[in-house]
Amino acid sequence: MNSPQNVSTKKVTVTGAAGQISYSLLWRIANGEVFGTDTPVELKLLEIPQALGGAEGVAMELLDSAFPLLRNITITADANEAFDGANAAFLVGAKPRGKGEERADLLANNGKIFGPQGKAINDNAADDIRVLVVGNPANTNALIASAAAPDVPASRFNAMMRLDHNRAISQLATKLGRGSAEFNNIVVWGNHSTTQFPDITYATVGGEKVTDLVDHDWYVEDFIPRVANRGAEIIEVRGKSSAASAASSAIDHMRDWVQGTEAWSSAAIPSTGAYGIPEGIFVGLPTVSCNGEWEIVEGLEISDFQRARIDANAQELQAEREAVRDLL
Ligand code: NAI
Repeated sequence: MNSPQNVSTKKVTVTGAAGQISYSLLWRIANGEVFGTDTPVELKLLEIPQALGGAEGVAMELLDSAFPLLRNITITADANEAFDGANAAFLVGAKPRGKGEERADLLANNGKIFGPQGKAINDNAADDIRVLVVGNPANTNALIASAAAPDVPASRFNAMMRLDHNRAISQLATKLGRGSAEFNNIVVWGNHSTTQFPDITYATVGGEKVTDLVDHDWYVEDFIPRVANRGAEIIEVRGKSSAASAASSAIDHMRDWVQGTEAWSSAAIPSTGAYGIPEGIFVGLPTVSCNGEWEIVEGLEISDFQRARIDANAQELQAEREAVRDLL
């Protein structure tokens, strides 16, 4: 293994750095959990001007944690500075839906954030930039950012479905009394919205098929809505939206993207037309990661039950795309 002295430092940009997700995420990045424990990291924190004080405080606490791999922290409200030389970016900062606002307003308001950030990535990031959009509506925000970055391959932009994927594993692990690492071949198709389709058709636990171990009614009536509505359930119980679990899933996603994984994952990537999903929308698909790229798990047989749910997601994402057409 190389020592930190002769491995090049990776620059990681995190937007929304003063927010609650970043308060977990930044510690995991600084601990070497994305690029590995032999790779030094430099953090670049982007915030809106009113929240720069909060980001400054977060940076002070990061320094106080004395991470061996943490080289430097930049705090800025200037997107060009924040993405300068970035090898990885977590786009967490977003504008929540305000009182009386429609989904179209939410999409348009976030377009004003993710368009300029996409352009700043285009103009300033390193050639190997990987961008994970976490801020909601994540899939369409990723589409907007990617459209504003014509020099960066669209495949370098992802939206996060990994929290939904991890929630699906957790529900199955609890139901079957098994460890989370025993599960494979789970996928959450579609949009990071309540329309999403957590799919256990191909899932295995140990050597067994999960569909042989749970009944269909539980799958349809309990499992699918529970996973799809877990965000609302957390808000109801905790009084705040998911934060540490979102951060943990963002780490899982970026680590697997960079370092590779043969296990199936769910990543929202630009559709290539696979599984009859229209091209160009950012859609959760079954993926494995090889040589720094997500590859779609192809050739799966799709039943009518699955088809209807996958199509509902594709339609929702196409409607979101239409709503922001003037930003693309
Ligand atoms: P938060 O409200 O605690 O923090 C958001 C931060 O973003 C704030 O500090 C705010 O000042 C900052 N911000 C707003 N506009 C910005 C801009 N233009 N540039 C830079 N920073 C900006 O929110 P939290 O809990 O950290 O969540 C962040 C986002 O992640 C939300 O949109 C939330 O809905 C989303 N989310 C996504 C999940 C997923 O699975 N994809 C799961 C959980 C949350």
